[in-house]
Amino acid sequence: MKDTPIKRHLIDQTISEFQIVDFSKATIREVKAIAAKAEAASGVEFIKMEMGVPGLPASAVGVKAEIEALQNGIASLYPDINGLPELKQEASRFIKAFINVDLKAEGCVPVTGSMQGTFASFLTCSQCNEEKDTILFIDPGFPVQKQQLLVMGQKYETFDVYDYRGEKLQAKLESYLQKGNISAIIYSNPNNPSWICLNDEELRIIGQLATRYDVIVLEDLAYFAMDFRENLSTPFEAPYQPTVAHYTDNYILLISGSKAFSYAGQRIGVSCISDKLYHRSYPGLTKRYGGGTFGTVFIHRVLYALSSGTSHSAQFAMAAMLKAANDGEYNFLDEVKVYGERAHRLKEIFLRHGFHLVYDNDLGKPIADGFYFTIGYPGMTSGELAKELMYYGVSAISLVTTGSHQEGLRACTSFIGEHQYAELDRRMSLFAENHPLK
Ligand SMILES: Cc1ncc(COP(=O)(O)O)c(C=O)c1O
Repeated sequence: MKDTPIKRHLIDQTISEFQIVDFSKATIREVKAIAAKAEAASGVEFIKMEMGVPGLPASAVGVKAEIEALQNGIASLYPDINGLPELKQEASRFIKAFINVDLKAEGCVPVTGSMQGTFASFLTCSQCNEEKDTILFIDPGFPVQKQQLLVMGQKYETFDVYDYRGEKLQAKLESYLQKGNISAIIYSNPNNPSWICLNDEELRIIGQLATRYDVIVLEDLAYFAMDFRENLSTPFEAPYQPTVAHYTDNYILLISGSKAFSYAGQRIGVSCISDKLYHRSYPGLTKRYGGGTFGTVFIHRVLYALSSGTSHSAQFAMAAMLKAANDGEYNFLDEVKVYGERAHRLKEIFLRHGFHLVYDNDLGKPIADGFYFTIGYPGMTSGELAKELMYYGVSAISLVTTGSHQEGLRACTSFIGEHQYAELDRRMSLFAENHPLK
């Protein structure tokens, strides 16, 4: 076997220093820390694909509006707990413009990133009915959301959607919902980590079952309209970002400033509660709070208790970004399309050297090129592949941590620089030589 770019013992030693027994379960932060240490010790640059953070400059529209708001003195004032009226209005328009759904401004609630949106949603949904004490994940998914439930002491169930695409989703979902303990269903679309996109047939199944079994759908749109196979970027014109909102009234749409607007640092998003859900009362909420509807409890009880609202200046930024997008003055998707171009080039390199895409299609259509993709190598488990690639200076996380039952890794395109493609090609060529396919 030829020498690897990073000495094996250096990685092995770092892994044992971190006391990681099973590398398939290493978290994103651990993989990042090991890569950083090995990089410093070896002087060899890592090709870093483990972190899902934006690698692009923040939207200039947002930065300008936020600076102006600060200069106008808003920092000293508590923000309105319901949210900045302009932001609520623009979020409602954004939903009409890019999803073609009517949702009143009242239900569009600023949060300190979708992370807080899901935390507040999990909490509120879990308190609606005593017998519904479990969240269902359509996995693979974003690992921190399960951690949120762990932190709050709530139960969850999960299944890997890999084998249940299309109409197969119906019976699978129903097998959970029939038990009567599910309060909410969560998934991301496009999906972190696999970049599969649930289509209208699947969203209809989810929506209809949500109505039948009276559960709330948490549709995580962190990668809003980033299915680059279609041009979803023209406001008030089809095609639109697909959504479950067409098929049920029980939903919350979680829109994030982090990826679509590269605004992760300011922790801003909008949780958009359907008109019907906003005004609905639930026995569990009435008992606990002495009254209130889903929407008012979400805002005046839960968000108030968590952070008393969302950073005032960041709300001005988000309002300006949404407004410029709604007015057709700012094509936010143009700025992030580069992730898709990177994915295309990276996938080509991996596939040429014997790797395969793990989640490779949407009901027969090749998946889109986007922020993430998933790779596997014949005969290797997720943990083996993740560790082996570290010897080649390539860091990525195992799919095990995402609730996937498939063997492989999640690769993120956000940190890839132009000079790294040729280097990746060389390293994967050596990898293939050292691991000949049978
Ligand atoms: C699926 C998904 N949801 C939510 C988030 C977090 O979004 P925010 O930065 O708005 O909290 C991420 C970030 O990686 C994500 O991948």
